[in-house]
Amino acid sequence: MEGVTIIDVSPRDGLQNDPRPVSVEEKVQLVNKLVAAGIHKVEVTSFVHPLKVPQMADASEVLQALASNEELEAIALIPNLKGYERAREHRLSEVNWVSAATETFNEKNIGMTIEDNMSQFLQVLQKAKEDGIKTTFSVAVSFGCPYEGDVDEEDVLQIVRRIKEAGVDRIGIADTIGIATPDHVERLMKKVLAIAGDTPVAIHLHDTRGLGLANAYAAYQAGVRIFETSASGIGGCPFAPGAAGNLATEDLVYLFERMNIPTGVDFQKLLGVADYAASLSTKNPLGRIRHVEKQREKENTL
Ligand code: COA
Ligand code: ZN
Repeated sequence: MEGVTIIDVSPRDGLQNDPRPVSVEEKVQLVNKLVAAGIHKVEVTSFVHPLKVPQMADASEVLQALASNEELEAIALIPNLKGYERAREHRLSEVNWVSAATETFNEKNIGMTIEDNMSQFLQVLQKAKEDGIKTTFSVAVSFGCPYEGDVDEEDVLQIVRRIKEAGVDRIGIADTIGIATPDHVERLMKKVLAIAGDTPVAIHLHDTRGLGLANAYAAYQAGVRIFETSASGIGGCPFAPGAAGNLATEDLVYLFERMNIPTGVDFQKLLGVADYAASLSTKNPLGRIRHVEKQREKENTL
């Protein structure tokens, strides 16, 4: 069976919206634990406005402290050119540029129109190529928007066509509010993959309504091989009302490993990382398998 790549976004998506103050040291530990469990691609932080998202104000310190981890392929989310200029000061494997499929979400999230955002992205893409930093373009609210409701597939695909043509290194499709259903995922991802051709495509899933794993499997069936999830399912976007946690990394790893689809992740170590991630969050973490494994251990049953 063809394997999958997992990108853990818990240090960014998981912690950006939580009132519990998390120290630089704790963030560094979380990332190092993820890498030790076999997850090398980690979205470590974001270079956004420190007053809008104070939890990410320490982006530089966190990346500096992680510079010596050679096995880490660090990813930082950036919303604009200024974010890129801040990010490029660090040893990064890639930047994750976020723009939404709807105008209202973009306005609330980054204060920009889709068109303005696209023109800034094209500048960043050129700079990043010169700097040797890979670029992902993530299309937020691709399956539904908390402000505009249903999202026209064609709006998503139009963005995908433009970034493919521009030469982006990876295309990300995000279910920011966990509203997708498996049939929708399969339909849209097949179309995205057809446009993407040899450009890798990732899906970013939230488990708000309990469909995260079903959607992940639908994406796999459509041909997606890169998944963005969060240890213990901590997460949620401050600009997406009602957005609950991300799909839990350990739940996804469990699913794939049980189906003999290699993930490259040490499941037992990952359970420990999920415990740690949960300890940094005030939210009720969504991951299920962690609780089952704990119970099993306690009762010493299969
Ligand atoms: N990092 C730090 N500061 C930034 C910045 C960035 N990426 N982008 C802009 N700024 C600063 C500017 O330098 C300016 O500072 P000044 O007032 O001292 O001169 C100020 O912010 C206003 O600049 P402007 O370009 O008008 O930005 P804005 O106020 O419209 O904010 C974003 C734009 C994108 C920075 C802001 O909306 C944001 O951080 N959004 C958060 C998005 C997010 O994290 N969402 C969740 C993940 S998807
Ligand atoms: Zn998210």
